Amino acid sequence: MTSASSQHRVKIAVMGAGLIGKRHVEGVLAEPGTLLSAVIDPSDAGRDFARSLGANWFATFSEAAASERPDGVIIATPNQLHVANALEVIQLGIPVLIEKPIADNAEAAAAVVDAGRKSGTAILVGHHRRHNPMIQEAKRVLDSGRLGRILTVQGTFWVAKPDSYFDVAWRRQAGAGPTFINLIHDIDLFRYLFGEVEAVYAMESNSARNHAVEDTTVVLIRFASGVLGTMNASDAVASPWSWEMTAGENPAFPRQDQFCYQVGGTRGSLAIPGLALWTGPSKPDWLERQTKEQVPFSPADPLTLQLKHFCDVIRGQTHPLVSGQEGLETLQVIEAIKSSARSGQLVRLHDFDMRRGH
Ligand SMILES: NC(=O)c1ccc[n+]([C@@H]2O[C@H](COP(=O)([O-])OP(=O)(O)OC[C@H]3O[C@@H](n4cnc5c(N)ncnc54)[C@H](O)[C@@H]3O)[C@@H](O)[C@H]2O)c1
Repeated sequence: MTSASSQHRVKIAVMGAGLIGKRHVEGVLAEPGTLLSAVIDPSDAGRDFARSLGANWFATFSEAAASERPDGVIIATPNQLHVANALEVIQLGIPVLIEKPIADNAEAAAAVVDAGRKSGTAILVGHHRRHNPMIQEAKRVLDSGRLGRILTVQGTFWVAKPDSYFDVAWRRQAGAGPTFINLIHDIDLFRYLFGEVEAVYAMESNSARNHAVEDTTVVLIRFASGVLGTMNASDAVASPWSWEMTAGENPAFPRQDQFCYQVGGTRGSLAIPGLALWTGPSKPDWLERQTKEQVPFSPADPLTLQLKHFCDVIRGQTHPLVSGQEGLETLQVIEAIKSSARSGQLVRLHDFDMRRGH
């Protein structure tokens, strides 16, 4: 067995030193198996942040790569730049971790996936929740059959974003709402836990704030496995029921002892997070009491685990848990939800992809 210290330390460059980019930089500095190769961000704030850490700073990736070739690059720039940034890195055959969403539209995302495939360059997409040990344990429980046949899942993302959040113009405009920004996390987890999405039927409303962008979205989901799901999202509801409030991943959010997903099977049900497992008697009987059991797991920071995983991907020791293709397919579901909300029609993912030429 080799320890991190006996292995080559992985040189990571971080592109985009904003809200999440800074957390990636801090993660790279804290991880014994990694070295911070460079911070790439053309803004004054990005430069000052890099200098405050004594890190190498560059305005562009090409300047950074000319100075030192990193082993891997984390892309944490605004969504519209992900494709251009990723293609630059992939062109040099350097593995990338692209923050979610992989791109701002599925067509562009497909070009990135294609470039990675053709050049044999690994792409990991930053849907970090999949790395959460609680989710890994939930997946084990679901796959073990303890719930019997899984029939249904319902998910809630109800938060009240403050008025100041909408002072930034793009957050009020179409494409920036909770469907694209928040629901994409839940949909990615649902795909991880229940498999491919076959069809969606969605409704959106902007009645809380009357912005061009939606504040509330409700989706019916049919998975290819036969599981039926609902996802109910709003960024204008004061409630304790969202991943942010219940998973305890980000200390900025006050943690509530609640859950945001309920998974129902013929023999039991599971609440996520928290992993309260409710099972019934051996034969279905609604007059019998359900037994509650707490499924144990060891909490750990999924961003740290994602970084360790990225290092293993760079070393060629494993395949990406969330590949470029996975990031693309999650994005396609989001686009199908938007399309259904616009048209008022059920959207089948297969037909939707065919129309788009994928
Ligand atoms: N995984 C998560 O939970 C999570 C959380 C937040 C954000 N994100 C994603 O991370 C990305 C960044 O979001 P954010 O909230 O940190 O944004 P942000 O606006 O805070 O930061 C973006 C940074 O990119 C820099 N930048 C702009 N153009 C650049 C370029 N050409 N090269 C290098 N840097 C450039 C900006 O100066 C800024 O510092 C988005 O795609 C977002 O969806 C993911």
